[in-house]
Amino acid sequence: MIGIFDSGVGGLSIYKACKQKLPNTSFVYFSDHGHFPYGEKTPDEIKKYAVKITQFLIQQGANLVVVACNAATISSIQYLRSIFPIPFVGTEPAVKPASLATKTKKIAVLLTNAASAGPAYQELVSKWNNGVQVFSFPLPKLVQIVEENTLHEKASEQYILDQINQIRQLGIDTIVLGCTHFIFLKPFLKKYFHDDFTVLDPTEGVSNQVKRLYDKIPDKKEANQDILFTSGNPAILADFVQTWLKLRIEVKPVDIYE
Ligand code: DGL
Repeated sequence: MIGIFDSGVGGLSIYKACKQKLPNTSFVYFSDHGHFPYGEKTPDEIKKYAVKITQFLIQQGANLVVVACNAATISSIQYLRSIFPIPFVGTEPAVKPASLATKTKKIAVLLTNAASAGPAYQELVSKWNNGVQVFSFPLPKLVQIVEENTLHEKASEQYILDQINQIRQLGIDTIVLGCTHFIFLKPFLKKYFHDDFTVLDPTEGVSNQVKRLYDKIPDKKEANQDILFTSGNPAILADFVQTWLKLRIEVKPVDIYE
């Protein structure tokens, strides 16, 4: 069984990609909506949540945990690896592939404040930028638009169009989706900016790595069906799953923090 977590619905994009690669594997997903948004939390707070959630996912039977959140990966994955005896797969901004893809030598990383603030992000950029200019844009409002599922509203559309137009004016030709919530905006970006940008999301890389590591684990436990847990309102998660993933999966509220 594979455990996945995020602050909310963003990690469902990673869940979908992993499920396609491992259709016979069972998944347990935890949405920490009660602490949403992680983008406005400190690294220590996020680390504390990540430990609790990992303990819970292991209790549910997870043999591997996917940190389907850039902010949580950047703040906590090293620590999680040091204290839990299971494999972890994280989600990080795809700076390296973007630096190889850009022709204008300018890339944009769209992410959260928490992901961009720490030294780990700066290290990632210096390690992989390949000499290209990296512009980082924390966009917390975009996270909210996806979590609240208001993309269809005029004001949300206009907000995104304004942000991306500003990015285009800088001569950037490659956009890195450095927050899993933004993966759900890909069809929108394609529709309006099809010829302007290459948009890189991490789903393919993360799901390949999950499959590679999961296949190596002996004696795995599997459940009969996938299950979603939330520390917030289960209706939000259930609605989102139905609208965006076209799936009906049981969503259970749970308090793991008492
Ligand atoms: N989806 C998360 C990420 O990839 C964070 C969103 C948030 O809670 O701010 O960084």
